[in-house]
Amino acid sequence: MNQTPTIKISCKNLNKIYRSKKTEILALQDINIDIADNEFISVVGPSGCGKSTLLRIFAGLDEATSGDILLDNRVMTGPGSDRGMVFQAYTLFPWLTVEQNIRFGLKLKKMPKPEADQIVEKYLSLIGLTDFRNRLPKELSGGMKQRVAIARALANKPEVLLMDEPFGALDPDTKGNMQLQLRELWENEKHTVIFITHDIEEAVFLSQRVYVMSARPGRVIADIPIDLPQKRGLDLKDTQEFIHIRKKIHRLLHSRDFGNNLHATN
Ligand SMILES: Nc1ncnc2c1ncn2[C@@H]1O[C@H](COP(=O)(O)OP(=O)(O)OP(=O)(O)O)[C@@H](O)[C@H]1O
Ligand SMILES: [Mg+2]
Repeated sequence: MNQTPTIKISCKNLNKIYRSKKTEILALQDINIDIADNEFISVVGPSGCGKSTLLRIFAGLDEATSGDILLDNRVMTGPGSDRGMVFQAYTLFPWLTVEQNIRFGLKLKKMPKPEADQIVEKYLSLIGLTDFRNRLPKELSGGMKQRVAIARALANKPEVLLMDEPFGALDPDTKGNMQLQLRELWENEKHTVIFITHDIEEAVFLSQRVYVMSARPGRVIADIPIDLPQKRGLDLKDTQEFIHIRKKIHRLLHSRDFGNNLHATN
């Protein structure tokens, strides 16, 4: 029996205009998307199409000019601990150790120490950095730092994880490993993930659904369900099915006449 999925985040007729004294930039135009609870979705699109803007609005760090964001069917009004964010640039606190960075949000929440200890241990072990717990960020590689940033976000148990090109600065091998780890994390403890990238392969590998955006003004030009096995290894990227979807999204992104491609099926 088909069950209708619960919608976690819904975006209704959303527009974003950046205004200054001299200029007006229509960054996002009429965005309508529904993201199901525990769904992993990616948003791909050319540079400047409004991906980060959209994510910041989801995080409550920026406001839409018009339209609504519904979180659990209620209009979202600002930032909240129900949403965790991982940015492209490494945003660890440089004066705190790996362990202290992961513990940071739990301390803010005044979580009792034994409970916080358990969570910190769990995520240190999940990201494979237990032996690095007392190191400072400057002593870590880029991939390690990003693993700590993800652990720090996850330790707060956000219902929604918002990720803005978190692996953009990593070398291809580390990037592949991080994708695998993130996908495994999501398979093991489901939560809703909104992942921004301009790497089509990354989007297809990680997601259950990929939204494709046009160049500015950013509009959603396609919504592609990724019908690939749930359990994914990196070798999936070499399969015909994977390459087929990747090429389809590539064509959509590089087509000048988006309108004609909205309903492209292959
Ligand atoms: N604070 C701001 N004030 C004015 N314009 C802005 C602001 N932030 C973003 N913009 C403009 O809005 C548009 C979308 O920017 P955004 O950063 O969301 O794009 P993006 O898709 O994330 O790009 P990239 O892939 O390069 O990260 C761009 O034209 C940008 O110049
Ligand atoms: Mg961006």
